[in-house]
Amino acid sequence: MKQWQYQLAKKGLFKMDAEEAHHLSMSMLRKAESTGVLKYLMGKAPKSPEVECMGLKFPNAVGLAAGLDKEGNTIDALGRLGFGFIEIGTITPLPQGGNDKPRLFRIIESEAIINRMGFNNCGIEEGVKNVQSAKTYKGLVGFNIGKNKLTPNDEAVSDYVKALRGCWGVADYVTVNISSPNTPGLRDLQAADDTARLIHALKEEQAVLTERTGVKMPIALKVAPDMGDEQIADLSKVFLDGGLDGLVATNTTIERAAVKGKAFSTQAGGLSGAPVTQRSTEVISAFHSHLGGKIPIIGVGGIMNAQDAKDKLAAGATLVQLYTGFIYHGPPLVHDILESLSNRR
Ligand SMILES: Cc1cc2nc3c(=O)[nH]c(=O)nc-3n(C[C@H](O)[C@H](O)[C@H](O)COP(=O)(O)O)c2cc1C
Repeated sequence: MKQWQYQLAKKGLFKMDAEEAHHLSMSMLRKAESTGVLKYLMGKAPKSPEVECMGLKFPNAVGLAAGLDKEGNTIDALGRLGFGFIEIGTITPLPQGGNDKPRLFRIIESEAIINRMGFNNCGIEEGVKNVQSAKTYKGLVGFNIGKNKLTPNDEAVSDYVKALRGCWGVADYVTVNISSPNTPGLRDLQAADDTARLIHALKEEQAVLTERTGVKMPIALKVAPDMGDEQIADLSKVFLDGGLDGLVATNTTIERAAVKGKAFSTQAGGLSGAPVTQRSTEVISAFHSHLGGKIPIIGVGGIMNAQDAKDKLAAGATLVQLYTGFIYHGPPLVHDILESLSNRR
């Protein structure tokens, strides 16, 4: 697909309410995939090197970040766009509706999005069925898991354990999301003691399930960009002590300085896209230096072009993921990054 083709489609989609546009484009993608149109439109993705990460072999370094395919029902179509891995979710043990609408806003002049979706999703059981019914996709699938809104924080661990069990053997890896700003109190789980307890419980369950099934499934954890050096240092120690398998950095920010005065900038929620590019890269770099390369990092946050992806890798990420850049620049961005990585040394 050419950039002008995507920009034409975007023109129409951006005239619609953001959430309606999202549902329409996902259903158009599924239709285009099932009829063979997408295959024709996309052509072959540029060849890009395989990457080893968390003991898994990723077909390439470019993934789709969590939140776009929350239910895992568009995997074949998204895979057709060239993504080497797709992180579905956030999925919670039970289905839930998320926050009241409107809850998704574009800040077009800043190439940004604010969302406060609140983990609207179909629940782990349905998510697993959806992933199992994917037919053509050959990349890896990560399950991004969260706790249900009604589960109090002191019972959060049991929700994460339930979700881990629920997708065991179906997911290639799991990402534990404790960094969404849109579930009240969720980010409190990023306090070192709480994170340590959560990782301990999940690693214990991982060992039990591996022993029982013979299947290995790495566990990554996703962090917010809104933390200082001290918290990054403390958490790095917790991750190393707990034997975490991977880190996804970063989620959306609650900072608004970069979009001050712009329409929708005062909406509650997480800000993503160009305004988080730099901060997210700094956080990756800080974690990388504290972790000493012992825990691989999946870099995400404001990748709007191929150079941004290279910057994340140069800062210490092993893989990258996109969300907002994909909304603004479409499938051609995936190909651009893949192509630039094939020439990378
Ligand atoms: C509309 C929207 C929904 C999102 N939902 C989730 C989610 O459910 N779970 C999650 O871990 N991250 C979620 N994210 C965060 C993205 O995965 C990503 O970490 C963040 O947006 C920064 O990357 P970006 O600037 O490329 O979008 C969401 C982002 C957006 C824009």
